[in-house]
Amino acid sequence: MPNSKIAGIGFYVPETVVTNHDLTRHMDTSDEWIQERSGIVERRYAKPFHETSTTLGAKAAERAIERAGISKEDIDFIIFATISPDYFFPGCGVLMQRELGITKTEIGALDIRNQCSGFIYGLSIADQFVKSGMYKNVLLVGAEVHSMGLDFTTRGRNVSVLFGDGAGAVIIQPTEEEGKGILTTKLHSDGTHAEKLAFINPGCHSGYHFNQMGEDIDFGYDKDIEYGGRFLTQKMLDEGMIYPNMDGKLVFKTAVTKFPEVIMEALDDQGLTTENIDLFIPHQANLRISQFVQRRLKLRDDQVWNNIQRYGNTTAATIPIALSEAVEAGKVKDGDLICIAAFGSGFTWGSALIRW
Ligand code: UT7
Repeated sequence: MPNSKIAGIGFYVPETVVTNHDLTRHMDTSDEWIQERSGIVERRYAKPFHETSTTLGAKAAERAIERAGISKEDIDFIIFATISPDYFFPGCGVLMQRELGITKTEIGALDIRNQCSGFIYGLSIADQFVKSGMYKNVLLVGAEVHSMGLDFTTRGRNVSVLFGDGAGAVIIQPTEEEGKGILTTKLHSDGTHAEKLAFINPGCHSGYHFNQMGEDIDFGYDKDIEYGGRFLTQKMLDEGMIYPNMDGKLVFKTAVTKFPEVIMEALDDQGLTTENIDLFIPHQANLRISQFVQRRLKLRDDQVWNNIQRYGNTTAATIPIALSEAVEAGKVKDGDLICIAAFGSGFTWGSALIRW
């Protein structure tokens, strides 16, 4: 069975740069607070009416396709990881197919909604499809337009200052080169804390999960209805219940435990150690998390790539953007061992080792 490899990679971020200082015009925050707690200096925001997760993803995909030396029509499967999709349904996978002008229908398209771990889950799925021989050119995209769904008032500041827009894409192909390509992927989940990092409304939950947990939250649903109802209520709109929420401390605490665990799991699986890692690309959630993991794994600065300072947390897009940047900067050489890892909503987390 052949391994699969990343045959082409590209990224695209919107032109509009929004600094921490810019955000102070909307909410009670400061450049010092944001930099000290997260390392973020600025982020990019998509242009309303012109850019969506699909269009950003398509620009990244075009670069990946070109670098893989294939044409759009060679793509036989699309995986699109995003939690800021253009529509509730259909997914961005089919919108991407249309945006790229792929007219053939002998192709599948799938959306992944795993938040920060979306790219790694997508890589694992692509890897299995390619290894099994089912597909030969899988397009995997991670793209987000968070800026359309953030609370820009002081109420939402603990979340809003962290997120940015952007996209990264890869082409996954089989490789006959012994020991090269995706060596392993490790995936995990724990639904216990599902609501601790979540975008709850609008949704079709009618408060069920909160009631199960003994939290009777009034979402503004009409209590008398027998069936049907609304997934968006006036109360949700009036009281700002339509934004992401996060228990930052719990996420931070859990992330710094799970990152090293899942990285060591992948290394052990391959009989490798942290010293073998040429480049570690952590999901860019918070510079402090990345630095904590780096210290825990005793990695040197030259073994780690961070860019959250310039883009913020672009969720499913952080890893392909950072990997693409590293490749463009000449930081990734033939035969290098690349380690990627992510942790986020769900909670879900994962890692992958790639021999370039
Ligand atoms: O991709 C998803 C994964 N997400 C993550 O990995 C995020 C993990 N968590 C974190 O990165 C951190 O928890 C944060 C950066 C989000 C927050 O840092 P923290 O040290 O946990 O701060 P906190 O939430 O405990 O808030 C401390 C104080 C609070 O004020 P009081 O109650 O002490 O008066 C907050 O209201 O900071 C306040 N605060 C802010 N102040 C200025 C919260 N957000 C802001 C803000 N600007 N943007």
